[in-house]
This record gives sequence, C-alpha cells and structure tokens, in this order.
Amino acid sequence: MPEDTLTIIDNRTGKQYQLPIMYGTYPNYGSAIHTIDLRQIKASDGDFGLLSYDPGLSNTASCKSAITFVDGERGILRYRGYLIQELATKSNFLEVSYLLLHGRLPTQTELDEWIWHITHHTIVHENIKKFMEGFRYDAHPMGILVSTVAALSTFYPEARNITDPEVRKRQIYRLIAKMPTLAAFAYRHSVGLPYTYPDNDLSYAGNFLNMMFKTVESKYILHPLLERTLEVLFILHADHEQNCSTTTMRNAGSSHPDPYVSVAAAAASLFGPLHGGANEQVLRMLSEIKSKDRVPEYLKRVKAGEFRLMGFGHRIYKNYDPRANILKDMTAQVLEVTGKNVLFDIALELERIALEDEYFIKHKLYPNVDFYSGILYKAMGFPVEMFPVLFAIPRTAGWLAQWLEMLGDTEQKIIRPRQVYVGADTRNYIEIKNRK
Ligand code: CMC
Repeated sequence: MPEDTLTIIDNRTGKQYQLPIMYGTYPNYGSAIHTIDLRQIKASDGDFGLLSYDPGLSNTASCKSAITFVDGERGILRYRGYLIQELATKSNFLEVSYLLLHGRLPTQTELDEWIWHITHHTIVHENIKKFMEGFRYDAHPMGILVSTVAALSTFYPEARNITDPEVRKRQIYRLIAKMPTLAAFAYRHSVGLPYTYPDNDLSYAGNFLNMMFKTVESKYILHPLLERTLEVLFILHADHEQNCSTTTMRNAGSSHPDPYVSVAAAAASLFGPLHGGANEQVLRMLSEIKSKDRVPEYLKRVKAGEFRLMGFGHRIYKNYDPRANILKDMTAQVLEVTGKNVLFDIALELERIALEDEYFIKHKLYPNVDFYSGILYKAMGFPVEMFPVLFAIPRTAGWLAQWLEMLGDTEQKIIRPRQVYVGADTRNYIEIKNRK
C-alpha cells in the first residue's frame, strides 16, 4: 500500500478507499486530502457521494499559497519566507508590498520604480470628493471607504480586463496608492474638515498622517517616531494568509470582477468586530477596568465565563502572536513621546497576571495583535472609528497579492461550495384561502 495515502472504510457498505495525501513545504504542517476524492464514497448507486462539512472552514485548505506562513503553535509569522520581526525592523511598507506581490525583495531600481508608480497614483478623481459629500455628516469612515473603493470601479472600466497583466498592474498601483487618500478623505468628511491632498514628497505613512491631521499650518511637522510606528503597523497588518477578509477577496475575485469591487467586498468583511474591530473592544475593556488594582477582579470574572478577555486568544496562534510582541515594545516608545497612558499600564498588568494564570496557560491564551494596536492608534491621535480603516489600508497589499496568486493558479475555479440540505422535502403549493 503506498505510504502517502489515507485508507477509509465506509461502514455502511464495507467498501475501502485509498485517498492520496498532498503536502506543502512542511510535510508535518498542513498535509491534506483532496475533498473531491470523498465524492466516490457512496452508500448506494443513487447516492450523490460524501461531502466534507466544515462551517467556518476551520479545517479546510481552500488554496495552495506561497505568500504568508503562520505557525500558530510556535508563534511564527513570515511573509514570503522572511520573518515578520526582521521586516518590521529593517523594511518599510512599500518594500513589503512589493515583496508580497512579487514574491521576492526588489533591487534598488525596482523599488524606486515601484515607489514612483505608487506615489504618482495617490490623487483621486475630483468626482470622488463630490461622491463623498453625499454621505451624512456622521457617516462611519469605514462605510465611506467600502463604498468609495467600490465606486473606483466605475472610474476605471479597463480594470474589468483582468486577464491583461499590464491592466492588472495599473489597478494594483492605483489601489495601494489611493486607499490612504480615500481613508483620510473619509475621516475628514466625518469630522467636517476640508480634504488635504496627497504630498508626493512624503513617505507612504507620512503622507497618510499629513492627509489625516494637517489643518491650518503651512507645513505639518511629522514626528519621525510616529511616522515609523505607522509604517511598522502597516507592515504587521499587510497579510495574514487565509483570514476572513482575504477569503472574501478570493471568493469575490473568483467570479472575475474588477479588483475594486473585490477589495470593497474584502473591506466589508474586515469591518466586523470579529475581525477588524477587536482592538476597539480592547480599548473599551481597558477603560472599563479603569485602574491596575481592579485587574485581578476583572480576570476572575473572565475565568468565571462572564465575558472574554479582549485581545487575548486566536484561532491560529496558541502562543504569543509575534505581532503583539512588536507592538508592545512600540507602545512603550510611543507613549514616551505622546505622554503616559493609564490604559497601557492596565494592559501590562493584565498581560502579566494572565500569562501566569492557570486558566490562560491551560487554554493557550496569549495577547494577539489587537491587544496593543488600539492603545497605539489612540496615542497617535486616531479616533476608534478609524481603527478598521487603518487595518484596510495595508491589508489591501495582501488582498491584491492573494488575488494575483489566485488568478495565476490553474487549479482555482469560481468558488461555489456545497451544502448539506436539511429543509423540507417536496411540498404541494396551497392556495392562500386554504392556508391555516
Ligand atoms: N478570554 C477568555 N477565554 C477565552 C478567550 C478569551 N479571550 N478566548 C478563548 N477562550 C476560551 C474559550 O472560553 C474556550 O474555553 P473552553 O474550551 O473552556 O470552553 C477556549 O478558550 C477556546 O475558545 P474558542 O472560542 O473555541 O477559540 P477560537 O479559536 O474559536 O477563538 C477567538 C478565537 C479570537 C475568537 C477568541 O480567542 C476570542 O474571542 N478572543 C477575544 C476576541 C479577540 O481578541 N479577537 C481578536 C482576534 S485576532 C484578530 C485577527 O487576527 O484578525
């Protein structure tokens, strides 16, 4: 019997099947069977065949991917083979975007050219401003972002030609370049401030901070630490393999629409509190705890099952999320500049006690990326409504890398899962006068 196979015995029929097992880069991490091979397993001749049932797709590999590797047991995250810690210290967001999209680090000439293209696509059509003005004065900036990025589809009809690599490339420049502009405009609309146009002399993060916060001064002075912090936050959020919004990007993209509407769909998935909104919940929790001395009492209530400790635990990480470690150190540095923050002291105390506590050890609950990101964003002056928007800007690079990978993968098809039907059998229509 071949070694790399799985033998299944169907006890309904006594029949035996051998299914081949496939492997990725690491044979002991992510081996899989092709679930279509289960279809041959039938209880009788008329049987459709066995499906696999997996709500939440928590044990389903929907693609092969060479972009991001996460080993949740050991707390490892790598983009294209490079450790996130190394990229966060040595690289910048645009270089990381290039890496995600092209699969390798750029040469100096390639990087210069890439940055030139992104910087020269940051302006949005003036009609976009008029479009934004249609939103109510208190519209949520994420709602505005999702709608306006979808609206870009109508400005660039050529984008529907997704089979042309040159056309695809142009839309990638546009999307990575325009997301910060749309995001800053969405914020300024929601607070009634005039829009600040992109400044091509600034870095990716610096330009975004300028568009967000410049008011009447002739030149907005960027603090280098805050600019670098945002750059690192963007690197950490750029991709995270097949999460909810990335899966949405692949889902939407699998029917071959233009990338603007697919990014809008992905951003809509990110808007939910279970994905892009958890750091807001962390801030609320820390404000509710109020002071360090109330931490033990709060944790008691978590352990009693009253509520969950927000910013702790992860579907994949059963160890310290490496992004949380980086953010913890950065928060301490940023608060040196922006001023002490009691929420950070409470967070440190929560982490200290939780990591020594039997409940958290037993359940393998560690701080995740959201535990410190909200404190950081707040310290930098971002309102909580902007938190999911701040996530969507860098994740656009990841979504586009995954979209490109999907388009180039000959095994991929339109995504169309099956279901286990549990509804009524055939029924006869009843005239309304005869219904009880
Ligand atoms: N506080 C207390 N107990 C927890 C927590 C928590 N934060 N998270 C999980 N548990 C317990 C849970 O009660 C369960 O215990 P038991 O087995 O005794 O019933 C056990 O751990 C497993 O929980 P689960 O819900 O089956 O685990 P999951 O992998 O489905 O959940 C999670 C992952 C992130 C939804 C969850 O840990 C959670 O709700 N955390 C708080 C919210 C949060 O911080 N979300 C941000 C996640 S990172 C965002 C991203 O990467 O996009």
